Amino acid sequence: MIDKQTIRDIDIKGKKVLLRTDYNVPISNGQITDDYRIMQSLDTIHYLLSQNCKIIICSHLGRPDGQVNSDLSLFPVAKRLHDLLGKKVEFVPDCIGEQVIKAAEKIEDGQVLLLENLRFHPEEEENDDDFAKQLALLADIFVQDAFGVVHRAHASTVAITRHLPAVAGFLLEKEVDTITQTTHDPKRPLMAIIGGAKIADKLDILKRFIEIADITVVGGAMANTFLAAEGIPIGDSFYDKNDLPLARDIISAAKRESTKRQFVFSLPFDGVVASNNDPTKPTRIVDWSAHAIADIENYPKKPPHQSSHIHANEKILDIGPFSGAFIAGAIQLSNTVIWNGTMGVTETPALQGGIGPYSHGTDLVIQGLTGDMGHKPYTVVGGGDTVGYIESRKLVDHFDLVSTGGGASLELMSGHKLPGVESLRNK
Ligand code: 3PG
Repeated sequence: MIDKQTIRDIDIKGKKVLLRTDYNVPISNGQITDDYRIMQSLDTIHYLLSQNCKIIICSHLGRPDGQVNSDLSLFPVAKRLHDLLGKKVEFVPDCIGEQVIKAAEKIEDGQVLLLENLRFHPEEEENDDDFAKQLALLADIFVQDAFGVVHRAHASTVAITRHLPAVAGFLLEKEVDTITQTTHDPKRPLMAIIGGAKIADKLDILKRFIEIADITVVGGAMANTFLAAEGIPIGDSFYDKNDLPLARDIISAAKRESTKRQFVFSLPFDGVVASNNDPTKPTRIVDWSAHAIADIENYPKKPPHQSSHIHANEKILDIGPFSGAFIAGAIQLSNTVIWNGTMGVTETPALQGGIGPYSHGTDLVIQGLTGDMGHKPYTVVGGGDTVGYIESRKLVDHFDLVSTGGGASLELMSGHKLPGVESLRNK
């Protein structure tokens, strides 16, 4: 459990609170296209309102590199918050300086003020102490609830805690507690499902789950690099040549682990292939398990059956039905499942509604995780692409934790300390 003080542990009644949220949400033509992070911040805001606090909210949005960029203004978030809270949310077009101090002085008990994007100032990402001091002038207490950004040592995650009493909000507490609990003391068997593009980005989490999980399965584009490292032809599939040594190291570590205890590490053994990532192109299912077996038995003396061949111009765009069924079956045997990364190119839409042509593997995983196949394990999901897909299918409520953090949840699942959590007041 989090060993840091939370808003329940201090006297916050009637105080002026600087609340750090992660409102880094997708905005297109001034419209918020996904408000999951905003929704998840509401519990803390409601609690602070019930305590008659004056709430000054700060956040980043995107990566403006220290420059003012109107496309990355938080103004649309003020409008959405106003609708969700059913009360006026003031907005000020900067986050430090005279105008902001005046706006913060003006707000009354139970009112909310949203500041403009912190990252319009380069000092935010530089963890600058003077910038943090200026933010601290606005309030009596700092509440950290931006789980998505606490893996960064920035002024609003670390330096600020030197200038105000700093405690955790409910979202931060929930995320840290759930992820810590499921990686430290899970109800076993513990299964990890890891996908995504690059092994290098998920190296630490892969290593950790080889150590702590009972079964770890890999999908997504990173699986192609593992397959290439195993000498399995992958045609024209995306893979990362530079990551081949990493892939070999991971496979060796997994093999070593399975000699020590009951542990399974599994790569896809079939896939959905097409000549291009384009929903109009015909797809085929290729089963390369025969190839892998032939390899063990001195391939190429025993050439595999034709159906195990990926053509030179074909790409693997999803795991195949047998790999999907294997993963879904393993989910049925697990009591805790941590999932990070989709199994295929889920962003490719279907031609005529329904799920996309390369989303079926991910869909099988979802059916397994949400109890459609009978047993429902405890489920923790992280990672931007995975969460985005679950949201697009309107299934967020079917999981035990759908993390608001991409990098932050990866870091925590990998067993790393988060600077924005470490800097808060100890219990
Ligand atoms: C995220 O979207 O993962 C967080 O808001 C952090 O954003 P960053 O990667 O730009 O620091």
